[in-house]
Amino acid sequence: MATDNPVAPWGETVGVQFDENKIAWVSFNRPDKRNAMNPTLNREMLATLEYLENDDRCAVLVLTGTGDAWSAGMDLKEYFRETDGKPRGIQNKVRTEGTNWQYRKLLSYPKPTIAMVNGWCFGGAFVPLVSCDLAIAAEDATFGLSEVNWGVTPGNLVTRALAETISTRDAMYYIMTGDHFDGRRASEMRLVNEAVPADQLRERTIELAKKLTSLSQWVVRGTKMGFRHSRLMPWEAAEDFLYAKHDQAILFDTEAREQGMTQFLDDKTYRPGLGTYTTSANK
Ligand code: COA
Repeated sequence: MATDNPVAPWGETVGVQFDENKIAWVSFNRPDKRNAMNPTLNREMLATLEYLENDDRCAVLVLTGTGDAWSAGMDLKEYFRETDGKPRGIQNKVRTEGTNWQYRKLLSYPKPTIAMVNGWCFGGAFVPLVSCDLAIAAEDATFGLSEVNWGVTPGNLVTRALAETISTRDAMYYIMTGDHFDGRRASEMRLVNEAVPADQLRERTIELAKKLTSLSQWVVRGTKMGFRHSRLMPWEAAEDFLYAKHDQAILFDTEAREQGMTQFLDDKTYRPGLGTYTTSANK
């Protein structure tokens, strides 16, 4: 288990804190640069996510930012300017190091992930934002697809991520104008699940995380993977895959379904439509 591994990969540009709720608070940690993602951060974040996959202190991963930014997107100096003119292979490597964690690792992360957007969120930051399973923003957080403002088209997977979440009208408006918007508007467009006053952001995130940890972790995992993958499949393949996930969860957590049925059908102690069955984790 990775908790036995003394060498944690974070510390320079990524922060990690664990709490008693088994939440791992992972933060973009370059507050002086508004948490812009430079190549060092991209490498460190991938290593951190890989480490936490096998760390039992992390049942839910919350991605947030140190200071007044969530992330100001890709680092214009270190990610763009300093790779200009470098051999194509180096540019590709730098790009892949970003996408490796921003969507490849995060989209199918085996544990639930929540983006807690505490402040500035621009450009490339939309990729990890959308790749997290759930997102909560401060009402006064500021979002923007600012690429056009500094003379480029949205590269990375920003546009693809937007198309995954918000309407074509809203996406086209914001990528073409570069206008910024706040957390309330992000929630209205369903870019985030909800927006709350900044002083309630952490509390609400903990509440949501605890809800997730009160459920069977194998069931939650199977549920998110089922949704992520099946939506890209033809119906026949989706049926096969979703039943395979269903059976896998029963195989890996032998208690969940059995208790769920017994406590409803025999003990009559709860109603599944209105809440979950009792376990040692949610008693
Ligand atoms: N890349 C590189 N450096 C960045 C950065 C980015 N995306 N965003 C902020 N920084 C740096 C600034 O260059 C500045 O560095 P310095 O102290 O060495 O001069 C520092 O972070 C603080 O930035 P500043 O603009 O003074 O902070 P602010 O609080 O007044 O404004 C923002 C915050 C986020 C509105 C502003 O920094 C900004 O517009 N950043 C770019 C956002 C963007 O377009 N991102 C898309 C990238 S794809």
